[in-house]
Amino acid sequence: MDLDHKVILITGASSGIGRATAVALSRRQNRITILARRESLLVELAEEIEANGSEALIISDDALDEAAANDAILKTVSRFGQIDMALLNIGAGPALNTATATAAEIKDNMRLNYDAMINFFPPLVQQMKQQEAGGVIAHTNSLAGFLGLPTQGQYSAAKAACRIFMDTARIELKPYRIRVLTLCPGFVVTERNRQEGVSTSLTMSMPQAAAHLVRALEEEIPEYLFPAVLKMQILLARVLPRFILNWILSRSVYSEHKETN
Ligand SMILES: NC(=O)c1ccc[n+]([C@@H]2O[C@H](COP(=O)([O-])OP(=O)(O)OC[C@H]3O[C@@H](n4cnc5c(N)ncnc54)[C@H](OP(=O)(O)O)[C@@H]3O)[C@@H](O)[C@H]2O)c1
Repeated sequence: MDLDHKVILITGASSGIGRATAVALSRRQNRITILARRESLLVELAEEIEANGSEALIISDDALDEAAANDAILKTVSRFGQIDMALLNIGAGPALNTATATAAEIKDNMRLNYDAMINFFPPLVQQMKQQEAGGVIAHTNSLAGFLGLPTQGQYSAAKAACRIFMDTARIELKPYRIRVLTLCPGFVVTERNRQEGVSTSLTMSMPQAAAHLVRALEEEIPEYLFPAVLKMQILLARVLPRFILNWILSRSVYSEHKETN
């Protein structure tokens, strides 16, 4: 999809990858709904979006509230008339170890990574089904969603669930011209996650990650893993015998890394 003069909804836009992507898209005269809980950050972002020549609609709400997600779609359509693209971007991967984590900690993080995407999905589908040109629903997934990484079990599992859900949706929604994208970054240095313990050769800045996302959105790449060096490692890891993979993972950057996404 040509990403000029479009209506775009971005969830998790107040910081990190979502914010950087909103800024990148604001240079192309779009109308952008930005959703997160921290309203003051959204106000600052809206000023930047408007200074770049786009329009912004601020929605400060909790994505775990299904009614609020539904309402965000209605407000966007009421203000801008349609939704061409949504980037469902909310998520986080705090370090949790299965030896000590409680059920509540595990479920809370899985809800954030799964429910905060799903709450928007059916209302977006209902809206895009009515649009002649359909639309694009993209999800910020993670390379962590391809493997059960040490300290990231709940996060990897929730991201994997999102990926499989999107695989089904991609087939079912094709007749409605709704395109479904799974976008999987590696390590991105953000305000909340400095990626301490990860070699800088493997990390990306927020603008770099946003540039990848914008390219994948524009080219409508159904499943996009980046950067290439980590993509190759993930693909290789998936074909290794399990005992070799487990040996590598138990000694890898992941087990030392205190918080990945
Ligand atoms: N950073 C990485 O290395 C990396 C790597 C791979 C994948 N990812 C994925 O990329 C996405 C963005 O991550 P990030 O690193 O940019 O994280 P981040 O800086 O922490 O941004 C997360 C965004 O989600 C919003 N958010 C969190 N909980 C919310 C809720 N309940 N309701 C509404 N908004 C909520 C936050 O805003 P408020 O707090 O204002 O609500 C914030 O805008 C996530 O899905 C993450 O899993 C990140």
